[in-house]
Amino acid sequence: MGSTAESRSSKRNTSEADRPIGVFDSGIGGLTAVRELRRVLPAEDIIYLGDTARVPYGTKSEETIKRFAEQDVDFLRRFDIKLIVVACNTVSSVAIEHLRAKYRDLPILGVLEPGVEEACRTAESGRIGVIGTIATIESRRHVREIKKRGDFQVLCRPCPLFVPLAEEGLVTGQIPELVAHMYLDELRGKVDSLILGCTHYPLLTETISRVMGPGVKLINVSHEVARKAREYLGEKGFLREKGRGNLRVYLTDIPPHYEELIYRFLGEKPESVEKVELEF
Ligand code: DGL
Repeated sequence: MGSTAESRSSKRNTSEADRPIGVFDSGIGGLTAVRELRRVLPAEDIIYLGDTARVPYGTKSEETIKRFAEQDVDFLRRFDIKLIVVACNTVSSVAIEHLRAKYRDLPILGVLEPGVEEACRTAESGRIGVIGTIATIESRRHVREIKKRGDFQVLCRPCPLFVPLAEEGLVTGQIPELVAHMYLDELRGKVDSLILGCTHYPLLTETISRVMGPGVKLINVSHEVARKAREYLGEKGFLREKGRGNLRVYLTDIPPHYEELIYRFLGEKPESVEKVELEF
């Protein structure tokens, strides 16, 4: 979190409270985090940026992910936001330290730490599983963050095919279950908490849960980051408490069937959806 925001008064500050929250992701999947933010913080205005022209980030290099993430933040900063939520697990794993160092005046909350905290809190046997994109898993950031918090055993597995399955709406039945077995059989029986470290995976909860078995707690990082955002805004006195906030969605490309896709992840229709050109 940035130092300027931290030094502000902790009493409720109306003008601060009225500023929007900025959320970004590599695409539309990050709307799973917005869905949770809208549930937990219904009065907040939210500006969402989905970099649909360049999705996926999870198969790209660290250098490229950092560059894209900077451009995403630069876009959101134009809206005088009070907090940035990085809904993308890949950016949260690979580029968050870089963003925090570059934008020191801006509080930046990623999905990784809240998810890790919850996993460490609930992993009774001390064995935690992490699934995510290739870039997320290869960054090893979950492992480092979990080990900082105690003597845990961590098993990681990239599950790249879950992303197109979720986008297709193919989330239950034979095909996703087969794919889930291919990825998850090696974790089954070996972990008691599993971090769903990708925006798309909450849509596959039913299938993942069936394959992992009933004793395994699935951690929805979108839920955890929303809780953390409320905690942070409350502590700073920046919470907006009355009314219904609006949601404006900006996309770098408007894909076919975008309304259906948005609804799949968000569960509602946003006030507006606009195409935006980032300065690449
Ligand atoms: N939003 C990405 C994530 O949470 C998944 C899609 C991508 O690879 O860009 O990691």
